[in-house]
Amino acid sequence: MLDKIKEHLEEISKINLNGQEELESFRLRYLSKKGIISELFEEFRNVPPEHKKEVGQRLNELKQKAQERYDSAKETRKSTEVVSGEHDLTRPAFPYPEGTRHPISIVRKEIIGIFSRIGFTVSEGPEIEDDAHVFSKLNFAPEHPARDMQDTFYIYRVSSEDSNPDDILLRTHTSSVQVRVMENQKPPLRTISPGRVFRNEAISARAHCIFHQIEGLYIDENVSFADLKQTLTFFARELFGKETKIRLRPSYFPFTEPSAEMDVSCTICGGKGCNVCKYTGWLELLGCGMVHPNVLEASNIDSKKYTGFAFGMGIERAAMLKYQVNDLRLYFENDLRFLDQFRTAL
Ligand code: PHE
Repeated sequence: MLDKIKEHLEEISKINLNGQEELESFRLRYLSKKGIISELFEEFRNVPPEHKKEVGQRLNELKQKAQERYDSAKETRKSTEVVSGEHDLTRPAFPYPEGTRHPISIVRKEIIGIFSRIGFTVSEGPEIEDDAHVFSKLNFAPEHPARDMQDTFYIYRVSSEDSNPDDILLRTHTSSVQVRVMENQKPPLRTISPGRVFRNEAISARAHCIFHQIEGLYIDENVSFADLKQTLTFFARELFGKETKIRLRPSYFPFTEPSAEMDVSCTICGGKGCNVCKYTGWLELLGCGMVHPNVLEASNIDSKKYTGFAFGMGIERAAMLKYQVNDLRLYFENDLRFLDQFRTAL
């Protein structure tokens, strides 16, 4: 029996245990219930008492060596697993947090989707603009107080006397992009311009110095106010639901005549009156109107032949109405507890 044990000890020290299969057959051969070591322990019972001590020691040595050999081979395999390219596909993955789209991106995408379904293209332009594209060509007279309405950030003023065509500034609305479209393309034009805009306003729950707009422009022969109203009705119903009503109130913008502001029926109470709509049933959403002939002429479009409508809205505002967000600052703070709530949207 001592000889047998010796042979096995030798075998164990020499055996190759690199692969998964070798490892498993080693386990079955030596360590399992019906393996060699169990068998030897069975035999051990019949060893005469005077030899029990010596045989017993050797047998225990064999058992320990076999187990050690197995454990260390298994350990080495684990650490070389990735290197050898054998991945365990059933192993749980490392969980890593998935991001979500920002609510402004969600709503921008949705609004672009709605207008592209009725043939509007998307145009973009620079955030750093000149006076001509933000004001002059949009029929803002040089000393018109409407320039103050928009609290402009000037980067570089050529003259301090009111406006100068060379003034460089951050755009206060994306109407500037539409001027560029009118300059560079021929009617019919049907485009929306989403983008970031800047106004020197104190930051509060209702105002921020950076926000996002989408403005729309449609120019063709015989475009009327009825077309504008129909387009905006379609838009409001797509964005807020089929039951949504719109209301147009007379307003003023230098670049449109007539001008209006559009309200939508309250997204919370449906128009019955609640504290969100301050019991009026309406929420203000956007400005719009028929493009002023001076604006068309400033970009060399024949105002006798063509008419058009334009509209513009804040994306933050649209998202606030859609998701009942009551503080504009939440959009800029990147607090995950806020952003995480838009996981299921688009
Ligand atoms: N440009 C206007 C603003 O920023 C919105 C507007 C666009 C109004 C087009 C009428 C027509 O407030």
